[in-house]
Amino acid sequence: MKKTVEVLPDQTALIARSLDLILTKLDTAIKERGQFTIALSGGSTPKPLYEAIAKQKLPWDKIHVFWGDERYVSPDHPDSNELMARTAWLNRVDIPPANIHAVPTLDNNPELSATKYEQHLQAFFQVAPGEFPALDVVLLGMGDDAHTASLFPHTAALQVCDRLITVGNKDGNPRITFTYPFINAARSVIFVVAGANKRPALAQVFAPVADDSTYPSRLIQPQGELWWLLDAAAGAGNRE
Ligand code: 6PG
Repeated sequence: MKKTVEVLPDQTALIARSLDLILTKLDTAIKERGQFTIALSGGSTPKPLYEAIAKQKLPWDKIHVFWGDERYVSPDHPDSNELMARTAWLNRVDIPPANIHAVPTLDNNPELSATKYEQHLQAFFQVAPGEFPALDVVLLGMGDDAHTASLFPHTAALQVCDRLITVGNKDGNPRITFTYPFINAARSVIFVVAGANKRPALAQVFAPVADDSTYPSRLIQPQGELWWLLDAAAGAGNRE
């Protein structure tokens, strides 16, 4: 694993650097494999990044978008990560609808939805059960409790190592999430983290020793590249 920590002066610089890194990975992927696969994070931090990506002239037919996690709500619900990404980015570009691989959340059965998404991923990447395909980029945020995707502290999802997708749990509310081994199979994992409220959690995630179940972002140790892009508020005292 190659780990890089970059601290940018402010959120504007953080978003610009995040865009630059993603575009570099996109260009390499399309040159080498003819397509670019990215899993998106939710929450509020990435919204300006998605808006910036939407302004780029890109080969949209070669770009495939997945979600690293999703709230278990309909895609028109204000909490939907899919709705946020479509509004900020995907509805603004000419990407083929088939290239948008949304998480199914209308089965009224989170386990069934997780299995359906996993089967969709296995079919897309042409892998057998038990194999972990490598996305080009898994984009992640981190909560102030050090969760990432929907891998929350001390939840059952942290123990799932033989699946691509599982059911996360936030305060009793189901989420659909990549498992940490699936995230770790990515060619590049890029955390984009902003805000002073994230600083204490980051200190624990970067600490040589701390409890992984308490600070789940510690579980993200990809075989490929690990990037932590931080603004100064989050990064103060958290440089490598
Ligand atoms: C989600 C996200 C989650 C998010 C963090 C940080 O569905 O909420 O995927 O993991 O990245 O909670 O959220 P903010 O960017 O809003 O701080």
